[in-house]
Amino acid sequence: MAERLPIAVLVSGTGTNLQALLDGVHGREAEIVAVASSAAGVAALDRADVAGVPWRAFARADYDSRELRDAAMADWLEQHGARVLVLAGYMQLLAASFLERFPAGVINVHPSLLPSFPGLGAIEQALDYGVKVFGVSVHFVDAGVDTGALILQRAVELPGARTPEQVLAALRPLEHELLPQAVRLLARGAVRADPQNPRRTLVDPAPGADAR
Ligand code: GRF
Repeated sequence: MAERLPIAVLVSGTGTNLQALLDGVHGREAEIVAVASSAAGVAALDRADVAGVPWRAFARADYDSRELRDAAMADWLEQHGARVLVLAGYMQLLAASFLERFPAGVINVHPSLLPSFPGLGAIEQALDYGVKVFGVSVHFVDAGVDTGALILQRAVELPGARTPEQVLAALRPLEHELLPQAVRLLARGAVRADPQNPRRTLVDPAPGADAR
């Protein structure tokens, strides 16, 4: 079997996406070498602890500036050998200088069909707009807000949805499927930029799978 891709997961909250990665790819296609949080005491860190993965909180209040906090976090992630970073509910922006330290890729899961409804409150934005089709995007992170190249997307029709809870309940299983799937693709080296249009990623189908 190919070598496992060393990844670190960045979290801020409950960590259900982290759990999906622990259950779906950790010790298989990838090795979660570290979990970093923007806040102490969040449930995601308990999940890392239970799984025996090194974890640490980097609270903004503990540093003089965001840049110093991000630099300390990047140092720690590098020390643990992370090549690819996975933002799994990480609720803070990362500067370009941070992203440049992980050239193999930083990816994020977002609860909308980007480029619609970037940023905070994506589900509420979509509900307010009155859309009938919701969805999930996994994308590369660049210095913008949810503007990086898309890797995977999945849509779900919810014409009767009225509350964020209803939408979240439908989107959560999609997130928990797509984020591990994206990590598997990266571990296989199956994602590359389209030379015709670098905004578009080309995803090589798994051996034996139908190209869609
Ligand atoms: C997810 O809905 C993700 O799309 C968003 O934040 C949420 C994180 O949930 N960016 P969890 O912490 O993984 O449970």
